[in-house]
Amino acid sequence: MNGLNTGIMGSGSYLPSKILTNADLENMVETSNEWIIERTGIRERRISEKNELNSDMAVQAAKMALKNSNVNPEELDLIIVSTITPDRLTPSTSCIVQGKLKAINAAAFDLSAACSGFIYALTTAKAFIESGNFNKVLVIGTEKLSSFVDWKDRSSCILFGDGAGAVVLSKNSEHSILNTYIRADGSESNLLRIPAGGSELPIDEKQLLLRTNFLKMEGKETFKLGVKSMTEAVLEVIHQAKLSLSDIALIIPHQANLRIIQAISDRLKFPSEKVFTNIERCGNTSAASVAIAFDEVLKKQIIKKNDYIVLVAFGAGTTVASLLLRW
Ligand code: COA
Repeated sequence: MNGLNTGIMGSGSYLPSKILTNADLENMVETSNEWIIERTGIRERRISEKNELNSDMAVQAAKMALKNSNVNPEELDLIIVSTITPDRLTPSTSCIVQGKLKAINAAAFDLSAACSGFIYALTTAKAFIESGNFNKVLVIGTEKLSSFVDWKDRSSCILFGDGAGAVVLSKNSEHSILNTYIRADGSESNLLRIPAGGSELPIDEKQLLLRTNFLKMEGKETFKLGVKSMTEAVLEVIHQAKLSLSDIALIIPHQANLRIIQAISDRLKFPSEKVFTNIERCGNTSAASVAIAFDEVLKKQIIKKNDYIVLVAFGAGTTVASLLLRW
């Protein structure tokens, strides 16, 4: 096993107070509460106010993580923000967060790996810590997806929500990250995309008319690839550590669709009661998803000392990531 030197000191999360229910969506697009629950498991999701920025949510989650870790902002060496919905294309959301936290000694950069982003960022933080470059690293997964969701597209707008989650990592702590696995498959980059707003297609009147500034998704293909790649990623990280599934106390998967999560536990023949879900309340919050779920797991004291826990996610890119923790 590698990586006994990086551990999680504490976590935090933030959900906006405004709740968007399936009944609300019934008034916005042609859909029904029953259809959404049956096909996705989602009952409601949180949506931030117009003036509540992605960086504001990130800061709320970060403050809680810092408090729970007993770390001051000035002690941070690095802040990594994983997001696909930055406040602005530049500067990075991590720099905005660094400024708002007054983390004056921290370097800061954003990491874009969509829904796998939080685990990608934890993997990156572990590498920085174990190389001896940095001691205390703040990792945040945060999204204001409501700004990029096409609220006229019933096949995607029902899925997504806003929120943020954060952890502080440091050297030689308990709660170690034992193994990590990250992969990408750019040949599937069209499955989930925001076509306009980058340098390829700057937003103009034509793009606004085509609604290409919003998220586009091939739902069925994404579903299948998500099940396959997350199942493989769980096994990969467990095998790396020479453990077996029966050693795992809890899997915390990306909350994309309850049926995807159920299909993964079926394929693995892993008890569904050992798979954490909050999708019914949060929807898919992309890079924030695993981070928020992880914080809930800690708050609810679901895991105990020395438990093995697997985090796993899949997202646009496509990307896939998993991580094994010993609590
Ligand atoms: N309400 C009612 N009907 C809807 C609907 C909605 N919100 N969205 C789609 N439909 C309709 C479709 O138009 C289609 O109708 P048709 O048969 O007359 O053409 C029918 O429901 C079935 O659509 P389909 O796309 O086959 O449904 P599905 O079972 O694949 O569920 C998703 C759609 C989006 C819920 C599902 O594919 C999914 O969750 N995919 C993965 C998405 C994901 O995880 N993305 C993020 C990855 S990180």
